[in-house]
Amino acid sequence: MQQPKILILLGTGRENSVTAKLFPAIVKIAQDYGEITVATADEHATRLTWEPSPAKVPWPQLVETSDAILIVSPEYNRSFPGELKNVLDQGYKEYKDKVVGIIGTSDGPFGGARMSEAIKPTLTTLGLIITQRAALFSFADKIAEKSEQEQIEEIKDRVTPILEEMVRIYRRFSN
Ligand SMILES: Cc1cc2nc3c(=O)[nH]c(=O)nc-3n(C[C@H](O)[C@H](O)[C@H](O)COP(=O)(O)O)c2cc1C
Repeated sequence: MQQPKILILLGTGRENSVTAKLFPAIVKIAQDYGEITVATADEHATRLTWEPSPAKVPWPQLVETSDAILIVSPEYNRSFPGELKNVLDQGYKEYKDKVVGIIGTSDGPFGGARMSEAIKPTLTTLGLIITQRAALFSFADKIAEKSEQEQIEEIKDRVTPILEEMVRIYRRFSN
């Protein structure tokens, strides 16, 4: 069966980000579900909207050549990081009918639940199809202290349903 090209985006550029510490484990888990490309808000965000991309391959081009997007993001002030919005706003038509999954993190008890809801209107407006479930990691700072292998063991059961759903939706739409 055909595997999707999955673009995985780290949604924060914050120094010492806990989410960034979990990101490699999530990427490893995703490798069983498709051909992976990794991107970070840090390398793609511009200072102002519509400024030229600082990245070697601009974000819209990465989206264009992908089938699915997995957003891995912390919750900032009950929403998603500004740099993530900046990156998402760089494209429009490239997103149409592609599937997107959301993985949220927080050092508190809600695991980025408010972020995962706040980002949905933007994703829908871009023409993306959002998976039914999101994976939310509360007290992510504690998970991030562990080794990559331990992180994989701890988060795998919640990350794989998102990936499975992304693959399922991709296959339905690619017929
Ligand atoms: C600017 C800012 C705003 C934040 N707002 C929230 C919030 O609304 N809800 C929440 O649960 N955690 C919030 N946090 C805490 C993050 O959940 C925490 O930093 C966690 O480690 C994930 O973010 P990180 O990847 O930047 O480390 C906020 C953190 C920052 C830096």
